[in-house]
Amino acid sequence: MRFAHVLITGASAGLGAAFARLLARPGAVLHLGARRAAELEAVAEACRKAGATVATRRVDVRDAEAMAEWVRGAGRLDLVIANAGVSAGTGEAQEQDARVRLIFETNLTGVLNTALPALEAMAAQAPGADGWRGHVAVVSSIAGFLPAATAPAYCASKAAARAWAEARDGTERRRGLRVHALCPGFIRTAMTENNPFPMPGMMSPEEAARRALAGIAAGRTRIAYPWPLYALTRLTAALPPALLNRLMLLAPAKPAD
Ligand SMILES: NC(=O)c1ccc[n+]([C@@H]2O[C@H](COP(=O)([O-])OP(=O)(O)OC[C@H]3O[C@@H](n4cnc5c(N)ncnc54)[C@H](OP(=O)(O)O)[C@@H]3O)[C@@H](O)[C@H]2O)c1
Repeated sequence: MRFAHVLITGASAGLGAAFARLLARPGAVLHLGARRAAELEAVAEACRKAGATVATRRVDVRDAEAMAEWVRGAGRLDLVIANAGVSAGTGEAQEQDARVRLIFETNLTGVLNTALPALEAMAAQAPGADGWRGHVAVVSSIAGFLPAATAPAYCASKAAARAWAEARDGTERRRGLRVHALCPGFIRTAMTENNPFPMPGMMSPEEAARRALAGIAAGRTRIAYPWPLYALTRLTAALPPALLNRLMLLAPAKPAD
């Protein structure tokens, strides 16, 4: 399945930029959003060189009105990837309140600000070549399966985004739409570059994006990979919370951004 009309948030770097580059080809129409204009433009230029038609939008996913206006004005959309996200350092004795709010507003409210107008717009369009009116992919994380004491807000925001996406897929199918939860493991991006702890199964952004797109094309609701890390995470998450907390806090701390 080759998605032609695609909108991606957080397309200026990392996984979002990798999605854009993978989807860029002659005939593709890409709508790329982020806050940093220069970085976003560099990704757009690479996609244009690959033959895609590209429109960029400087937009903050926390701004519901601006997001709705952007999504509704994009025209046909076969795939919308709610990718923008932030994390925190793991070294603070306690997460700073402002950071907790920023993480939820970006990783959860930002996802809803992207997905809700997208689903409404897609519901009114004709089915594509794969028989669906459109696909919304929510970027969660394997971290969403493990409430880690080192990153409470990040893990909880990813768990909520995933649960919402997976459950919503059940009802959206009835109107010819799909909602996918993308749950990658560690990806080599700015988000992980200062992590001082082991990151088993580390992937390049390109590999992570390729596996996600393959899962969407295969029609999977939950796309979690690599499987050994996913399995280990599910097993670890079955520990009693107090024991899990003690275990997680043994890991060396990641410095704040
Ligand atoms: N790296 C990993 O190991 C990993 C694993 C699993 C899941 N993920 C998830 O994958 C997604 C992409 O992360 P990444 O690793 O590629 O991180 P990254 O390199 O730091 O990229 C984050 C992207 O999100 C954008 N962004 C952040 N806040 C935004 C906001 N308020 N409005 C609009 N755009 C915003 C950034 O663009 P601007 O700063 O230009 O706005 C940037 O393009 C995130 O949801 C992350 O949680 C990452």
